[in-house]
Amino acid sequence: MLTTLSTLLETAKQEKRAVGAFNVYNLETILAVVEAANRLKSPVIISFGEGYFSHAPVEAIAAIVKEICTPLAIQVVLHLDHAKELKSIARAIRAGFTSVMYDGSALPLCENIKNTKHIVEYAHAVGVSVEGELGYMNNEDGTFEEGLDLEKGYTSVQDAAEYVASTGIDALAVAIGNAHGIYKGKPTLDFVQLGKIGQAVPVPIVLHGCSGIPDDYLRKAVSLGVSKINVNTEISTGAVLSARKFLAQNTAKDLRFETVLMDARHSMSATVERFIKLLS
Ligand code: 13P
Repeated sequence: MLTTLSTLLETAKQEKRAVGAFNVYNLETILAVVEAANRLKSPVIISFGEGYFSHAPVEAIAAIVKEICTPLAIQVVLHLDHAKELKSIARAIRAGFTSVMYDGSALPLCENIKNTKHIVEYAHAVGVSVEGELGYMNNEDGTFEEGLDLEKGYTSVQDAAEYVASTGIDALAVAIGNAHGIYKGKPTLDFVQLGKIGQAVPVPIVLHGCSGIPDDYLRKAVSLGVSKINVNTEISTGAVLSARKFLAQNTAKDLRFETVLMDARHSMSATVERFIKLLS
């Protein structure tokens, strides 16, 4: 069944566990996530980013997820990831998304607050949850803007408390050394800062950029208030790796695309399953 982010994360926060939010872009990725969650009888967040609107119409993603997930016993959130445009949020909500993320993290605090508040009023009026972000990370595709210093973008405790209280958001995404894409070496997460933010805000905390973060770091983050773990790169690059191996082993001229897709789907589903097991 479909549910909202606030419903799912409230329980997760109380039980000190996290729910995985996995990025999808087409039917295969959706099936890979749903199959893993359903196998483990686990709640799950299906995340579709504004940056992927060129890959598939948001309405088509919503229609597929609703068709597949409505009859299921597990709780599924259909979430819009990293939306910077109000029109994307309106489109996703009209299509049936149950949760949206407004990403105003690159804006000055007062502007981020003003925009987020407006989106919260708009979304809450129709029963849709809102995730906001504070602090500055790299781009969602894993690239870095010239001269970006991750440490300078860490979420401030004081700003986080003000942002959450003034906007009414349901979940807060933070920057504490996490980054989208592949980490160069072992990531450095500021757990002291995370703990302080966790104490200062009443809402569940979201950690983006969880591909490549060691398991014990993720467990520690959950113990400090993180209730939503975002994963994209590890699923995507894992599928490519698997497809490469599959193609190397299956050199027949008449090898069919759907056969390769099925291999990639199994690989993605296994990665999702690993994260769900780690978090529950
Ligand atoms: P990764 O691509 O690093 O897993 O991050 C995903 C994410 O945070 C999506 O919002």
